[in-house]
Amino acid sequence: MASDRGPNFGLPPLGVSIGLRRPHIAGLLSERPELPFLEFVPENYMDRGGLSRRELLSIAEFYPTVSHGVGLGLGSIDAVDREYLSRLKRLIEETGALWASDHLCWNRADGRSSNDLLPLPFTAEAVRHTGARIREVADALEVPFLVENISTYTVLPGAEMSEAEFVSAVLEEADCGLLLDVNNVYVNARNNGIDPHDFLRTIPAERVGQMHMAGHDDRGYVCVDTHGAPVRDEVWDLFREALAITGPTTVLVEWDTNIPPLDRYLEEAATARAIYDEVTGSPVVSA
Ligand SMILES: [Fe+2]
Repeated sequence: MASDRGPNFGLPPLGVSIGLRRPHIAGLLSERPELPFLEFVPENYMDRGGLSRRELLSIAEFYPTVSHGVGLGLGSIDAVDREYLSRLKRLIEETGALWASDHLCWNRADGRSSNDLLPLPFTAEAVRHTGARIREVADALEVPFLVENISTYTVLPGAEMSEAEFVSAVLEEADCGLLLDVNNVYVNARNNGIDPHDFLRTIPAERVGQMHMAGHDDRGYVCVDTHGAPVRDEVWDLFREALAITGPTTVLVEWDTNIPPLDRYLEEAATARAIYDEVTGSPVVSA
């Protein structure tokens, strides 16, 4: 069943931007480069008052924001952490974030948490379980909610479907949007032998509300999803293919390790923007 929200999961296609990283906050506030939005990681601010939170709220005064979390563990077996959820909701309200996202993974069992985004089994049971938890989270946050396809280094045994089929089934079960990480599609293609073109053709294009691009470390026998390097040419090619399928959307270039100066980060976004304009031929929409 297709989403009835229209293209881009009903979200405004904001065009291309960068993530909010601590070393750049002062520069963003003083120089205020023209950017359509900024994506922040809520866990960096949820537990903190004082300067960090004030800086984020200052950023949110000048730029539209979206929230991209790493801590919900959407497929975990444990009950959803309602206290965590209420702190996340409060931050989303304070910043006016347009939408929220987290990863299609699990990270918690028996009250213990992992900092890694752990892969889910591609089974019907996991689809039902994860779909129900995503609905619970999205209902509580009261903003549009997207889940991101993660990078993995193996496929768990007992898979009943492909990764693309699993992601698509979860999106329908939860009636949520997809944050399509194009680099993760490429990394998984190399690491797990999936067909990246088939992945892009299989996922429901109308549910893609945002994309991620990032750099990875190609070690030949494995691709490590470092977010610490420029986007590789192979991933730019896949980006073109994804944009041709989805049309205008919102794109974020991630850079989380070996973070470069703001100007270099903006250059990478400009490269993405040039490809975006060329493929979609569509002006961006203001938030
Ligand atoms: Fe990502």
